[in-house]
Amino acid sequence: SGPKPLAGRHALVTSGPTHEPIDPVRYIANRSSGRQGHAIAAALAGLGARVTLVSGPVSIPTPAGVALRAVETAQQMLEACAAALPADVAVFAAAVADWRVAHAAELKLKKTPGGAPPPLELVANPDILATVSRPGPARPRLVVGFAAETHELRSHAEDKRRRKGCDWIVANDVNPATGIMGGSENEVHLVTETGIEDWPRLGKDAVAARLAARIAQALA
Ligand code: C5P
Repeated sequence: SGPKPLAGRHALVTSGPTHEPIDPVRYIANRSSGRQGHAIAAALAGLGARVTLVSGPVSIPTPAGVALRAVETAQQMLEACAAALPADVAVFAAAVADWRVAHAAELKLKKTPGGAPPPLELVANPDILATVSRPGPARPRLVVGFAAETHELRSHAEDKRRRKGCDWIVANDVNPATGIMGGSENEVHLVTETGIEDWPRLGKDAVAARLAARIAQALA
């Protein structure tokens, strides 16, 4: 085997959920095992890339040969991504919470018997994918986002690619009937500048390997 195709390249990958605190013991989060994002980080490292994996809290191991930046909140994830740039490619597989609690309590909120539940005011989190996709000297050459959709997957994914300003979108069907969420398989569609590729149902490791190979091709 010759030299690895991504040798000398830096890849940034986000993975996992974010946790947005309500108080020191409670949080709001999205469902995410981190399995697909971690598999992509591993696959890119396998092709020789230096990989920075910015991950929210997950219970799976960090792939070998990958530099982990562990974060909890979306704001921390954005800061860690910004600090990791420049990168040749960035893949945003994290399930970032869209909102955070405007004023997280410093002390645990107490239940008062018969009392009303505390109101939670939410504010929007920064969109990390859209931020990193913005044109400028620090923009990675290739920016890949994910779109988890339950219906009208193709049109939503194409809209998302344009709206976010990224180059590719990996669209997957997270309709609960598919069993994909939290499972070991994934069925994705790769939306690029030139069209949509339908990939077969594959293990998350195989999806990652295929995506990493496509990335290596695009950066070659
Ligand atoms: O807008 P939506 O959450 O559906 O977009 C999904 C894509 O955007 C994923 O690639 C996800 O990692 C990224 N994203 C992000 N920051 C957010 C929300 C989503 O990077 N605040």
